[in-house]
Order: sequence, then C-alpha cells, then structure tokens
Amino acid sequence: MGKVKLIMEQTHTPLFDALDKHAKMRPLSMHVPGHKYGQVFSSKGYPYFHKLLEIDATELSGLDDLHHPEGAILEAQALLADLYGVEKSYFLVNGSTVGNLSMILAACSANDTVIVQRNSHKSILNGVRMAGVQPVFVHPTYDQDVQVASFVSFKTIRRAFDTYQNIKAVILTSPNYHGMMNKMELSKIITYAHEHGAVVLIDEAHGAHFMLEGFPSSAITLGADMVVQSAHKTLPAMTMGSFLHLNSYFVKPEEVEYYLQVLQSSSPSYPIMASLDLARHYLASIAKNGPNKILEKIKGFIQQLDKIPQIKVVKSTNQEVQTDVLKVTILSRCELNGYQLQTVFEEQGIYTEMADPNNILFVLPLTDAFDGDGVIEKIKQGLWEYKPLLRSFLDLHNEEVDTITPLALCYNEIKGYNKKVVSFREAVGNISGEMIIPYPPGIPVLMEGEQVTERHIEILNTYINTGAHIQGGDMRKKYIKILYK
Ligand SMILES: Cc1ncc(COP(=O)(O)O)c(C=O)c1O
Repeated sequence: MGKVKLIMEQTHTPLFDALDKHAKMRPLSMHVPGHKYGQVFSSKGYPYFHKLLEIDATELSGLDDLHHPEGAILEAQALLADLYGVEKSYFLVNGSTVGNLSMILAACSANDTVIVQRNSHKSILNGVRMAGVQPVFVHPTYDQDVQVASFVSFKTIRRAFDTYQNIKAVILTSPNYHGMMNKMELSKIITYAHEHGAVVLIDEAHGAHFMLEGFPSSAITLGADMVVQSAHKTLPAMTMGSFLHLNSYFVKPEEVEYYLQVLQSSSPSYPIMASLDLARHYLASIAKNGPNKILEKIKGFIQQLDKIPQIKVVKSTNQEVQTDVLKVTILSRCELNGYQLQTVFEEQGIYTEMADPNNILFVLPLTDAFDGDGVIEKIKQGLWEYKPLLRSFLDLHNEEVDTITPLALCYNEIKGYNKKVVSFREAVGNISGEMIIPYPPGIPVLMEGEQVTERHIEILNTYINTGAHIQGGDMRKKYIKILYK
C-alpha cells in the first residue's frame, strides 16, 4: 500500500477504455481531426503514428469533454484525486506550464503581495506577471554537496511575513530539478502560511511519483493548497501530460476550472489524456504492491555506478534533505567536465537529462524492468580510456546580499516603460528590463523590474569569469536591458 489509502477501484481506466471501445468500433470519421483516425496521413510518418492515431479522437458521444466533464473524464479525474487523496484533480494537456499559470491566476488577484521562490520555472514567473501581483522574491538555500540551489528555508519565509503585510500566497518549487526537498521546512512553511491566511502553491513538476513509499514527501500530504505535477516527467505519461491537484479551503474549484479552460486548447489531445489515465493506473498498482522491487533495482544500479572510478554519485549530506532516487546526480572524477561527460555518454547512446560544468543528471525509470547492467556496461566502455583523478567542484555560487527582494516597479508599471541596452556601469541605479540567470545555479541575479545595484554587477562579473552559461543580456559585451520612459 502507498502513503495514501485507496478508496476507489484503481484498476479501472475509464478514459482509456472509452477510447479503446470507440476505436474498436472502426468508426467512420465525418469530423475533425483531419487524419481520420490515421487513414489520411503522410506515408513517411505513418509507421510511427498510425496506432496512436486510432485513439486520437475528439469530443464524441461516450468520450466526454475535458472542459465540462460528465462521463469518462470525470471518472478518470476522480480516480486521480482519490489516489492522491485530494479534493479535486485535473488532467492538464499543456504541461505543468499551464498548471502553474492556472493555479496562480485562480488563487491570486491583481496587486496581491505574494512570496515567490526566486529560481522558479518561467511558468511561475509568467503566472505572477499575468496575475499582476506584487512579488517578493525569496532565495533558496544552496547545497554545497550537489552544488545546486536547494530549498527555501522556513526562516526566510518567516522573515518575508515579518517584513510584508497581507501576504496572499507563498509560491514554491519542491523538489528541485535534482529531486531534493526538505520535508520539515516545507511543512513548517505551509502551517505558518495558513496561520497567516496565505495559500501555498507548489510547483511539484518533478514529484508526480512522491505519493509512493520510499520517495520524498509530496507537498500534497504536507497540506499545500494546490500542487502541480508534470506526470510526463517521471510517470509513464505522454509529454505535456500533467496533473493539477486542489486541496484547499481558500481556492474555489470554479476559479481553477475557469483558467484551465481559458489557457488550454478547446481540442485537448485524447492520447495525452488517456496516457494520464493509464499513468495513474500504473502508479496505483505500484502503490498497492509496494515499490520495493523498484527501489532495490535502483539501489543496485547506483552501487554499481559508484564503483566506476571516473565518476561519483553525489547526494546532499544535509540530513533534512530528502532526495528522489529516480534522480541521479553524477560528478566527473576524471579530466572530463560535466558537458564532456555528457558527450561521452551520448557516444554510447546514453542521453542524459542535463549537464552543467560539474555534473550530469540521470532520470531513472519508475520500473523494476530497468536494465541497469546494460547502462553500466556502456558507461564503462565510454570511460575506460580516461584516467580517474580527484576533481574538485567548480564553485559557481555567489553569495547574495539579500535573501528577500521586492521589485522596484510592479508589472503593471513596467508596461508603461521602454527598454534599451546599456553597459553594466550605466545600468547601475536603473531598473532592469530583463531577467539575467546564470546556469548553474539557475537563480536569477536580476529580475525584470528590479533595481540594478553595484552588487548585482559584481556578482555578474564573477559568474562571467567562472564561465557559467548566462541567460539574458549580452554577457560578452557586458550589456543589459534597462527600462526608461
Ligand atoms: C520546476 C519546473 N516547473 C515547471 C516546469 C514546466 O513543466 P512542463 O514541461 O510540464 O510544462 C518545468 C519543466 O522543466 C520545471 O522543471
């Protein structure tokens, strides 16, 4: 049994079954889409597409309507809510991106003060901007072991509540890209925010499987109001397929549903939705039987990986940090940096999730049928010619001055300004017209609407000198965009 008690019959797959039944009738399509269940299609792609196109239907009798569910989709979403133990769950066909936008728009009103994790995914930052709220950005802590931005501490959040009045929402990301989260801190944040009348919105894009035993805690079980998960990232669901879970006294389902139908297609993909129904069914079967076999398999794989002398598996030594075992961060212990290691792996046919100057990241499959031995063999083959050597981390993190930062101009004011490109020197004292983000650690040095200080320029120069990849501005010429009237 998983962390939650299953009440409904999780072996059912109502949406997939409805599509399967429909396809088996060999329907004559006098409706959209134009491929007519795959009969009309470019011969080039037909071998790949044809089976899937048989279930690429539209809102026909028996197939329900995502934006007004009354049948198979209603039932499939109810099963999803039941599995996760929440009030309501929604299928998303445009990724966590649309979930993040919708949860912010549904929970916040223009000019509300909201606390936002500074290194949020752009969908959170876009949502904050679209909602016209007043963001107060909070820095996450930095994990020295993995050399990545980790979690936002309770202390930082409490300080933000002490500094700003009437905070409406706290918007955080948990876990981080590397699967790290801090249960104790997040739990305290949620309780504290609720005591102060604020809702907690969590981007849990990388944690759709956290309802299973043996994995870090989901923000759902810690009491967050809304949680968005990219089912497609770690569950067997099609790309873009995601979930939004609502479990709140404060946020009305009607508001969430309004924004979901505003922001999502009126012709949502049935294959994506059916894959979500099947992913939920798959997850439920693991929750029921227990994930021990999967966990054992992963443990064995990581032990073997760690025996390869040219690499080292790294994990946070912070006792409070829980790390998802599906995410494996690998540090180079030979002359190769993270990017070069990635290339060597690719030459062996192994494609990684990402690379940075220090690390590469693997996302392992949620199955005990994973051929770890095959992967290990290929890695050994790729690395045999490199001599092991102790390689220390390139420390790419610069201490920030403030851990809590408001914008100098709110988003509605920004709209009235023009933008121009100026040198770093000239930018000081002006308002930034763009975000500048070094990777790693992926924490923006500057947000759009923030006043540029000497300290920001100092930090940027350090990042440039350490060779970090920087998004925004022209770092070669040392120019950035500022706002002017
Ligand atoms: C933390 C986080 N949130 C949201 C997203 C957006 O998710 P999706 O690709 O499902 O739209 C991503 C994507 O990488 C992400 O890493």
